[in-house]
Amino acid sequence: IPESSKQMLESHDLLKKFYHHLLVNTKEGQEALEYLLNRGFSIDTIEKFQVGYALDSWDFVFKFLSKRGYSADILEKAGLAIFRERDEKYFDRFRDRIMFPIMDRQGNTIAFSGRALGAGEPKYLNSPETAIFTKSTILYNFHNARPHIRKKEQVILFEGFADCISAVRAGVENAVATMGTSLTDQHIQLIKRNTENVLICYDSDSAGLAAANRASNMLNEAGLHVKAALMPDNLDPDDYIQKYGEKSFVSDVIGSSLTYMAFKLQYLRKGKNVNNEGDRIQYIEEVLKEISHLPNAVERDHYLRQISSEFSLSLDALEKQQRQIFFAER
Ligand code: CTP
Ligand code: MN
Ligand code: MN
Ligand code: MN
Ligand code: MN
Repeated sequence: IPESSKQMLESHDLLKKFYHHLLVNTKEGQEALEYLLNRGFSIDTIEKFQVGYALDSWDFVFKFLSKRGYSADILEKAGLAIFRERDEKYFDRFRDRIMFPIMDRQGNTIAFSGRALGAGEPKYLNSPETAIFTKSTILYNFHNARPHIRKKEQVILFEGFADCISAVRAGVENAVATMGTSLTDQHIQLIKRNTENVLICYDSDSAGLAAANRASNMLNEAGLHVKAALMPDNLDPDDYIQKYGEKSFVSDVIGSSLTYMAFKLQYLRKGKNVNNEGDRIQYIEEVLKEISHLPNAVERDHYLRQISSEFSLSLDALEKQQRQIFFAER
């Protein structure tokens, strides 16, 4: 690898340790540490994920790393410093934030995401794309989760850092997160090399459900076995664990996950009143479309019968229409 990338990796590793030290050992990091403890993070968890704190300073990191021999150019290319044209000065990208280091598959720190302590905007500030960090290929926590994914023959996908971290604390160690971006083909290829079973556990708000729907389509089309876990009241996994506890999360959310088709039926039905004719017809058409995507004839037959009996429609008519949809999409 090029010398410049090597230096970027080194400076990230050094900075990760420094941010972590600031969080756990210093007065400056105390407020951030209390924020995390109040959110249910434990010291063990903070250690395991090497969570840190970036000082409320304009150029502390820039000076810290410059002193250790890293050039301004490298620090800017690494996404750690920002050059301001106006006065030709360098500034730290991350200030007064809780820092989550992002690791690659080998465990090298390649980027950071910094969370505002309170209601600051943006909530999460991420490293830009660099020579060592391409967001679309990275799944947060994959490095730790990999052996567990292989052993359990399943990966569990989360939206956010806090969700993934809380899940691991609850004993769900095959957890990874897409870090807010939508799932990409590169993510899917990475998953596919390790398991063929994916459980989607996104936030249960409308944005999360829409993202879960899209991800489930992509994973299903890639030939993976997909399930989805839902939570009540628009909660996200981290909120759920805070409110109902780890045990309930493991048994009532993860352990009660839905099959791909059961998730689809629930998703498509949301916001529709099937007693209304227009809604009902739309629902049935959307369900038939989903059924036509199922690779297994027995499964298709099962759901066609279910719709047939639920809405008192002839199985024959449903089968015909489902086949029409299937061929129209070829
Ligand atoms: N995200 C981001 N930039 C933002 C907001 C979100 O990169 N401005 C990413 C983060 O990786 C975040 C994920 O999207 O973890 C999910 O977003 P959201 O559900 O809004 O945040 P939470 O993970 O629930 O954050 P928290 O619990 O800390 O409020
Ligand atoms: Mn430590
Ligand atoms: Mn969300
Ligand atoms: Mn969330
Ligand atoms: Mn959350």
